[in-house]
Amino acid sequence: MMKEWVDAETITIVVTGGDSQVAQDLVALAAKDKHFKLIALDQAKLDITQPETVRRVIDELMPDYLINTAAFNRVDAAEQNPELCYRVNRDGVKNLADICGELSIPLIHLSTDHVFDGHYASGYAEGDDVSPLGVFGDSKYQGEQLIRQFCSRHIILRVSWVFSDRGDNHLLRTLTKARTASEIEAADDRQGCPTSSADVARVILAMIQQLQNGADSWGTYHYCGAEVTTRYRFTEAILAAARQYEALRAEKIVPVSKTELNSEAERPASSVLKCKKILAHFGIRQRPWRNELPAVMRAIYQPDEATALQDKAS
Ligand SMILES: NC(=O)c1ccc[n+]([C@@H]2O[C@H](COP(=O)([O-])OP(=O)(O)OC[C@H]3O[C@@H](n4cnc5c(N)ncnc54)[C@H](OP(=O)(O)O)[C@@H]3O)[C@@H](O)[C@H]2O)c1
Repeated sequence: MMKEWVDAETITIVVTGGDSQVAQDLVALAAKDKHFKLIALDQAKLDITQPETVRRVIDELMPDYLINTAAFNRVDAAEQNPELCYRVNRDGVKNLADICGELSIPLIHLSTDHVFDGHYASGYAEGDDVSPLGVFGDSKYQGEQLIRQFCSRHIILRVSWVFSDRGDNHLLRTLTKARTASEIEAADDRQGCPTSSADVARVILAMIQQLQNGADSWGTYHYCGAEVTTRYRFTEAILAAARQYEALRAEKIVPVSKTELNSEAERPASSVLKCKKILAHFGIRQRPWRNELPAVMRAIYQPDEATALQDKAS
């Protein structure tokens, strides 16, 4: 899985948002490598909007790296409750940037394709102009800016269309609908690159390993799964994979425009992230999301076998 380490040292990593999709995969992956001591803190243990708690907990644990996966991620709910969204994605992130900057702890932060307006069908590079379409994207961009301002040793990793066997994501929402409805609608005018949360975890730990070995590659990076697809085609792939395990009620996927889905918030038409920089600086290549799908399906339908296979592979 991992390349050789320079030193046989233990790296202590604190992860915020310990119940998130990505945090759970970080826990699983780090457990396979004795160099990592990973402490995942859920919101009850570390609410990032509470500056005093953030300061006390981080000061006590003094990790080698802090990974922030905590976020207000509900894009539609953000339009109805902007105060809470900004409190978490902007002010909470500032609390982390402040303490990490002060204590010289590198901060690895996850951001999103929603910082862009999605008009470039060919995709977005790290240096492209941001122009968020809604509260969620704007709050994430403001969080990014505060990290750049207050914590020089940072990695901001923008990812897109994250899926896994848990949490709130397009794959699980699609399965829920497909069990009860005979037809489900999916946008065929939104394109992007699905990314498994296990793959995001792999990328983050690979970056940390290289930073630990002396790479001086701080800054903003993009990562997403390989193969651009549409929401419609992604839905098709999800249902085809699920049908190997269960008979679904849905017989038809109806292609619609994203505007017909009556969402509260506007979504970028293109969420495609160009991933050349992460390849150039860290040698990290995109993995095809279609290859990640079977493992996620196994984790949903045959959790015991999936765990056994993972243990064997490690
Ligand atoms: N999901 C995607 O498609 C996607 C796409 C692009 C970027 N990202 C970014 O990737 C990161 C991880 O995403 P994810 O999908 O793995 O996250 P997720 O599953 O939505 O989990 C987010 C976590 O943040 C926690 N949280 C919310 N407010 C908090 C607070 N004040 N203090 C501490 N924790 C708090 C939530 O806890 P509760 O459950 O207790 O509320 C939840 O466990 C986020 O930064 C997200 O913006 C995600």
